[in-house]
Amino acid sequence: MTAHTTEVGVGLISVGWMGKVHSRAYQAIPVVYPELGITPRLVIAADTEPSRAEYAKDVLGFAESTLDYHEVLAHPDVDVVSICAPNFLHAEIGIAAAKAGKAFWIEKPVGRGVDETRSVEAAADEAGVVSTIGFNYRHAPAIEKAKALIADGSLGRITNIRGVFFADYSSEPNGALSWRFTRALAGSGVLGDLMGHLVDLMHYIAGPIDAVTALTSTIHTERPIQQMGTGTHFDVIEGGELGPVENEDYAGMLVRFRGDAVAAGAVGTLEASRVAVGPRASYNIEIYGTEGSLMWDFERMNELHVAIGRKGDLIGYTRVMSGPSFGDFAHFQPGAGTGMGFDDLKVVEARKFLESYTGAKHVNSNIHDAVAAAAVVDAAERSAESGAWVSLPPVSGVTAAVR
Ligand SMILES: NC(=O)c1ccc[n+]([C@@H]2O[C@H](COP(=O)([O-])OP(=O)(O)OC[C@H]3O[C@@H](n4cnc5c(N)ncnc54)[C@H](O)[C@@H]3O)[C@@H](O)[C@H]2O)c1
Repeated sequence: MTAHTTEVGVGLISVGWMGKVHSRAYQAIPVVYPELGITPRLVIAADTEPSRAEYAKDVLGFAESTLDYHEVLAHPDVDVVSICAPNFLHAEIGIAAAKAGKAFWIEKPVGRGVDETRSVEAAADEAGVVSTIGFNYRHAPAIEKAKALIADGSLGRITNIRGVFFADYSSEPNGALSWRFTRALAGSGVLGDLMGHLVDLMHYIAGPIDAVTALTSTIHTERPIQQMGTGTHFDVIEGGELGPVENEDYAGMLVRFRGDAVAAGAVGTLEASRVAVGPRASYNIEIYGTEGSLMWDFERMNELHVAIGRKGDLIGYTRVMSGPSFGDFAHFQPGAGTGMGFDDLKVVEARKFLESYTGAKHVNSNIHDAVAAAAVVDAAERSAESGAWVSLPPVSGVTAAVR
């Protein structure tokens, strides 16, 4: 630990999957980034499910727990808040956090659509609080390297992209009808859940998308009902009461990048599915340029496939392993080959959030990035209904795309 340590009081709202991951990320900060001199202190956690609130205190190490998230926002020792609630609560809690003057790290998608995301943006802007969005795939060291290769022109002019975020978490027809399948609780389906991540990743490495056309479909239209606060959305329930799936399982888009994007004028396709059989969490991007190409897949997140040049007989993809010169890799492992994992991406995200909170400028995604991604998702939903192309005006504020 450095001589000067800044203690930051942490509040957590919702102790589901992401609530646990955020908590572990805060705890890792002094170990992984001792040079920052930031020590997060876990102050209070809230969940309406009593066993989860207790778990936060007994196991995760929060000093206090409550069933009412308002107590987290009102707590005088809480400086920053993690908002890990289901989507329908994001706008309500995000706005309340901003009004309480708390910096917040909020999970994606921020609310049930772009209007709710914009309402959180307005509150954060008015209060002047720091925000960070759970767009964790940005932080993979291989992605940071890919971003640098695109930016320095190693791939030449970027001509076209492909992104395929295919998961199998609901591929089983008896997969639980969690809150993710209900419009009132989630908003859109795989568009908000996985496509938003993919759009943000493209914004981060290739620049803003300015027009889309899309198709969506729902493959399994009924599922067994799961009560809020129990189990996970990976659960399979045999013989339970069925309820309707109200949002899409699959979405496919054609996209065009804006004229001032790093990938100016490039075109491509983005797809997302939550019911694919085979890919487990195959979050795959491909970027093609006039001088080279690259490929990355989250299932092998420590690898980057790079092809540069068109001459000679050794052209084609080379598999490169992430190592200490890629992104934040050196903070986790001393040498290439020993890989990082999903939770480590959240540690990087916590680092960027806390650095932003303690004064660094624009080190991570913020609420304007959430609006940018939500606007593309919203345009895709409208296009899927009308069959038309939808154009996207630039979003306000500093986003990754203009940084
Ligand atoms: N960044 C990522 O890769 C990633 C991954 C998974 C989930 N997410 C996002 O994180 C959010 C949470 O997802 P999850 O998988 O952790 O959900 P989850 O279902 O595991 O947990 C949600 C929790 O919220 C609690 N809750 C419900 N109402 C509440 C209230 N009024 N006050 C406090 N708590 C309440 C539930 O009891 C439950 O414990 C979602 O927005 C989701 O899209 C992001």
